[in-house]
Amino acid sequence: NWSMETFIEDAVSEIRQRVGKEKVLCALSGGVDSSVVAALIHRAIGDQLTCMFVDHGFLRKGEAESVVKTFGEHFQMNLIKIDARERFLQKLKGVTDPEQKRKIIGNEFIRVFEEESAKLGDHRFLGQGTLYTDIIESGTDTAHTIKSHHNVGGLPEDMKMELIEPLNTLFKDEVRRVGEELGLPAEIVWRQPFPGPGLAIRVIGEVTEHKLNIVRESDAILREEIKKAGLDREIWQYFTTLPDFRSVGVMGDARTYAYTVGIRAVTSIDGMTADWARIPYEVLERISTRIVNEVEDVNRVVYDITSKPPSTIEWE
Ligand code: XMP
Repeated sequence: NWSMETFIEDAVSEIRQRVGKEKVLCALSGGVDSSVVAALIHRAIGDQLTCMFVDHGFLRKGEAESVVKTFGEHFQMNLIKIDARERFLQKLKGVTDPEQKRKIIGNEFIRVFEEESAKLGDHRFLGQGTLYTDIIESGTDTAHTIKSHHNVGGLPEDMKMELIEPLNTLFKDEVRRVGEELGLPAEIVWRQPFPGPGLAIRVIGEVTEHKLNIVRESDAILREEIKKAGLDREIWQYFTTLPDFRSVGVMGDARTYAYTVGIRAVTSIDGMTADWARIPYEVLERISTRIVNEVEDVNRVVYDITSKPPSTIEWE
């Protein structure tokens, strides 16, 4: 009996009432939740909203551009894009431990956001895409952390802004419906789960621009082929990873010594458990051929056939 139209109407009038003539700041990550919350607040108060998008350089191919196109051009929001790619890469120099990477990226994100929002100065409210499930989950005791799931977008608690969390009674599928109703593009509304630290935890070991490029380009090919095969809504999450080694191959009649790309694709309900996806061999073959041909410094592609448990979905 939940009605989306009523939800949007109610949320809009509540936001208007609470905000009055003040200003609101939102951090956009390109993900579903922050996108929907920005679109909703924008519907309510228009130009009183400013969105900040911090590009840490670990997004997938085309995503940063899509954020600018959708929010800056289509919705014509006040959008501030911060190019922090160099800064994040510097911080990760020499870092190989997965948890260390997460911590550094999470902290750096907060630092950039604090610095940049301090420059704006006059925003009383902070809009956040907290869902009902986020509240339940953070209420449970996670004594045995397997991975710290830092969501980039988790913001400092001591910021002096008051929080606006209009999605905090909703589940994910409801958020998607709200997003569609507000006119967000399908590529954002139906985006597969993507970790806050992004491609940085899909490059195994030290993150370099060269390795990021391999993962980004191979991932784009994978996504394209999965979509072409009509499997994109069936497979819960699919991406490529880059192990930290080279192996021998042959191209033409020359020896190559290059990287191996791993394909990871799983079906799942909530990410807690997962089964490796049975992608048809013909599709895998096309993906493999294209990756080796089109991505520089790759001569081998492997397919991950482990489920969770005992593996996790991400390799780091
Ligand atoms: P694992 O690898 O633990 O992943 O089986 C389960 C789900 O969580 C995502 N994931 C993350 N999400 N920050 C996030 O926001 C993280 O550090 C992180 N690590 C894993 C993963 O993509 C999968 O959907």
